[in-house]
Amino acid sequence: MRDDFSIEFPESFLWGCATSSHQVEGENTNNNWWEWEHMPGKIWHSDKSGHACGWWKSMEDDISFMKKMNNNTHRLSIEWSRIEPEEGRFNEDAINRYKDMIHSLKSNGIEPMVTLHHFTNPLWLETKGAWINKESISYFKRYVSFVIERLGEDVHLWCTINEPAVYAVETYIMCNFPPGRLNLVSYFRSLFNLLDAHEVAYEIIKGNNPASQVGIVKNYQLFDPWDDGSLWDKLLCAGLDKYFNSIVLEPFRSGSLLFFLPWRSQKIKRLKESTDFLGLNYYTRWKVRFKIGSPKVMFDNIFNCTPGAQVSDFIRDGHPYGEIYPEGLYRVLKMVSTLGKPIYITENGLPDADDSRRPEFILTHLKQIHRALKEGIDVRGYYHWSLMDNFEWAEGWALRFGLVAFDHKTGERQLRASGKLYGDIAGRSSITKGMVEQYAPELLPGYFD
Ligand code: BGC
Repeated sequence: MRDDFSIEFPESFLWGCATSSHQVEGENTNNNWWEWEHMPGKIWHSDKSGHACGWWKSMEDDISFMKKMNNNTHRLSIEWSRIEPEEGRFNEDAINRYKDMIHSLKSNGIEPMVTLHHFTNPLWLETKGAWINKESISYFKRYVSFVIERLGEDVHLWCTINEPAVYAVETYIMCNFPPGRLNLVSYFRSLFNLLDAHEVAYEIIKGNNPASQVGIVKNYQLFDPWDDGSLWDKLLCAGLDKYFNSIVLEPFRSGSLLFFLPWRSQKIKRLKESTDFLGLNYYTRWKVRFKIGSPKVMFDNIFNCTPGAQVSDFIRDGHPYGEIYPEGLYRVLKMVSTLGKPIYITENGLPDADDSRRPEFILTHLKQIHRALKEGIDVRGYYHWSLMDNFEWAEGWALRFGLVAFDHKTGERQLRASGKLYGDIAGRSSITKGMVEQYAPELLPGYFD
């Protein structure tokens, strides 16, 4: 029932959470991350994924949390290193395990959205240079063909590659992902190969079942100038936006790159026709500051938060996870809607161990999605990152993103208050005054205006 104090989402809206294989399964001994975690100094506090959340053995147990939260969808990923542990040897038991997981989701009324590559590579591929090696595209093609042959009938929502630019930046610029080698050429090379791999996967999936919906997942990092009056801040923002955001999105928008690479133009052109939807991950914005001077001054403190802005509970080496900026989600939705494709929010969340900020985070971000929907932007669903606390890559277990609190030492799990709120919202596909009153009363003035 409608009233003036509610925000209604479309009946068909998908409500779910997102996870990725390595972060929840445990014992992924055959991929590049397992090896990386066992090298000294790579992961904060020397954490290891270990048994992770135990999903390989008992993912089904956590479906109860999805049901408690009235989720009608879940985004998970397939671990290539399990499917093809050695080059050319495919593991039937592994693919059957995924088939079981997918059937369990479906029999509980939960539509699976499946990602084919979420940051990890099989070790054998890593030794061949992974994504800087052009051959990786044909290896990926073989892996995807195998997966689609076995799961194509069961899954209708596919994400090909998760955050290609994050993979390339973290691996070849920030050096937080294996093999962590600073090399600008490798940044571009791996990124372009991942885009090509997306196109190849798109063809395979659509060839198998034209009704499947296939998309790529882009993390849109919002950059705004620290000082609107500073030309340097603005120029740096524009550059960062171009080489992190537009470099991935522009081929899908216009079929061309941002710069002239004649030998790539045919491939890039094909990208324009190779996505049915955009998977959008949105977390934070950075206020970008650039000071002309010595390199130390120029590059120190480039990424900042607006003074007084909300940040999450996580700070590493003096740097927070980023500024919480809900309106940014609306701005990003407007920008990516120019692609003319439906959008799924495939990740959105924050690290917040005591859950003091997450209810407000959910309410304010969903309000911005609703604002976009009212303007006719075709948003089809929302996947909160994450269902439960999990292994957060270079930060190990320190970041707590879950709607379900998970203690990786004891295996104990507990639905957080924000999980209850999310369940109430998903159950009604709406946000009511009562929910805001109960979970984040400070938002009430103005929330329904
Ligand atoms: C990634 C997730 C990650 C999350 C939170 C996203 O960029 O896709 O795997 O855990 O951010 O940091």
